[in-house]
Amino acid sequence: MTLFRATVIDTPGDPFAGDPADALAADGDGGVLVQDGIIAARGPFGSLRAANPHEPVTELIGGLLLPGFVDTHVHFPQIRAIGGLGMPLLDWLERCALPEESRLADPAYAEVVAGEFLDGLLSCGTTTALVFGSHFAPAMDVLFADAQLRGLNVTAGLVLSDRILREDLLCTPERALAESRDLIERWHGKDRLRYAVTPRFSLSASEEILAVCMELVQDAPGGRDDIWFTSHLNENLAEVAAVADLFPGSDHYLDTYHRHGLVTARSVFAHNVHASDKELAMMGEAGAWAAHCPTSNSALGSGLFPMRRHIEHGVGVALGSDVGAGTGLFLPKEGLQAYFMQQLLGSDGLALTPVHLLYLATRAGALALGLSDRVGDFSPGKEFDAVWLRPTAGSTYAVNLDHAADTTDALARTFALATPADVTGVWLRGERVAREPAATVV
Ligand code: GUN
Ligand code: ZN
Repeated sequence: MTLFRATVIDTPGDPFAGDPADALAADGDGGVLVQDGIIAARGPFGSLRAANPHEPVTELIGGLLLPGFVDTHVHFPQIRAIGGLGMPLLDWLERCALPEESRLADPAYAEVVAGEFLDGLLSCGTTTALVFGSHFAPAMDVLFADAQLRGLNVTAGLVLSDRILREDLLCTPERALAESRDLIERWHGKDRLRYAVTPRFSLSASEEILAVCMELVQDAPGGRDDIWFTSHLNENLAEVAAVADLFPGSDHYLDTYHRHGLVTARSVFAHNVHASDKELAMMGEAGAWAAHCPTSNSALGSGLFPMRRHIEHGVGVALGSDVGAGTGLFLPKEGLQAYFMQQLLGSDGLALTPVHLLYLATRAGALALGLSDRVGDFSPGKEFDAVWLRPTAGSTYAVNLDHAADTTDALARTFALATPADVTGVWLRGERVAREPAATVV
């Protein structure tokens, strides 16, 4: 066993359900007792030490120890395509994202990109992710293999499209079915890996390929509760209009998925900026989740996410970096941008507290992915996935942590000021990811 000593903060409760302060668990001088990767106890360091006087202690002095971040929407083939500013979605896809995605047809290229992508996640403190995959099955093999080797919690799938995109990214419904089944067989349920059926968006998906998606979800090994579904929804007004033209029989964008049984509690829809009340009611009823991607929505000018309306309709919201449209993999930056955008919405916005931001970056994502019994907070019984954010001495972040009134205030200053350079330690199931010299052991 190991007893970690740190300023420990997590959100085992739901800040959207009542007083946000009630959702927080925070110990300025806290302890987390970990046995074989699982949290055995958590509380004030003094009492944990008294009860476990002989266990080795790992002192994490300075900064905050938080649950590993959960990214619910991030594109692995776009790690080299960040920073294409000044374009709306459809132009950005054509000019920035899709040419790079085509390069992953080469498995050797994909292998290097997968390594860069997973290095990037870990160096930003992300330990669990719903990863939007590649259009190429061999590229998915290298992603899954590398994620398994590292012990990351990754849910991902082959991206499926059979129209409108550039020719080399298209497949037939038959090939989509065969290749997806193959990947499911090889990777779903292996260690911390799971499969997500992933049509790119209805704009590039025919009714036939959406029917294949339904077949894949329904035939999932272990039954229907076992496999995830993800896609894009209501991101951009031109996209929404084009989908309406392509699916004249559908009531709204969400209906294009719903007609194929793809709106369930295991569905995560990225963006949903331009959602109608009807769609929100349908998502709320189904228990489907929205992945809010605020830097992407800002960079592409997609719009201001209606978080208040999602919550009012009972739709769960988590955070996604949406790299490469998003401007980086660091989830606290997404939290801060989410806060800004809700502020900009004025009375239509939902005023987010630091507790909301931590919840959105951790436990909400775990809930969205059906992994909340395993990760997302530090409750006993959960796997110890954690990130230690510690500022460089003398930095403005360090100065602000020194002057924080309490742990909630320290959290606010962290969302305002922390950067990936402050990620000092990352743990996956209790194992420290090799990056920096180990912390002092006393
Ligand atoms: N819609 C379809 N594909 C994409 C993508 O790669 N990024 C974003 N932001 N939206 C999409
Ligand atoms: Zn996306």
